[in-house]
Amino acid sequence: MTIHIGANPGDIAETVLLPGDPYRAKWAAESFLSDVRCINQVRGMLGFTGTWKGNPVTIHGSGMGMPSLSIYVNELIKDFGAKTLIRIGSCGGMQNKVQVRDVILAMTATSLSTPSRGIFKEINFAPCADYRLLRAAADAAAAKGTPTHVGGIYSSDVFYDERPDLNEQMVRHGILGVEMEAAELYNLAARHDCRALAVLTVSDHLLTGEALPSDQREKSFGDMVEIALEAAFA
Ligand code: HPA
Repeated sequence: MTIHIGANPGDIAETVLLPGDPYRAKWAAESFLSDVRCINQVRGMLGFTGTWKGNPVTIHGSGMGMPSLSIYVNELIKDFGAKTLIRIGSCGGMQNKVQVRDVILAMTATSLSTPSRGIFKEINFAPCADYRLLRAAADAAAAKGTPTHVGGIYSSDVFYDERPDLNEQMVRHGILGVEMEAAELYNLAARHDCRALAVLTVSDHLLTGEALPSDQREKSFGDMVEIALEAAFA
């Protein structure tokens, strides 16, 4: 047991999928895994372990934002031995070629700051995905026929961003989408010799204002879970 994860040693698999929303963790585990059991409920942050095609998998909520994700990922890696960590979440589209419902595989994650800022100080570290996971996810998405983009994303500290000039610069530099967790996941994976990837569904669009209706979110989310699982065990 750790401060934020009420699991026993051995309750958590080496492969962990990380949706932001704990209820998405429950839904994904019940929909895609076999022999599922709940392994964490501390502060309502639900985690589940089961198997996928015979492979042990944990699906655990990360919460919203990098400070929250940092708590869970630190404990999952250092105390429970997680080795492959894949964020499955939503993002806002930032390019015209990116449509709502498309999948984005985050090759890199730009940020203004992350919880690792105190370590990097003047260094502009470049957080990036594990290449093997990235390639396997791209292959899995292509096999499913899911419209997918591979490239840089922006991990923001704020959802309600009052600096429109910042978004303009991101768009101008080809950033595909904005979310709030991937950069610190990649930092922590690099620091602890783990593999990480963020697989994201475009749930809304910053240029068009379009948003995915809630009844259509489940199907897109399901595609993303399957892509992440295929990539983890490719
Ligand atoms: N901004 C930040 N995070 C997000 C967004 C957004 O527009 N959409 C989904 N996650």
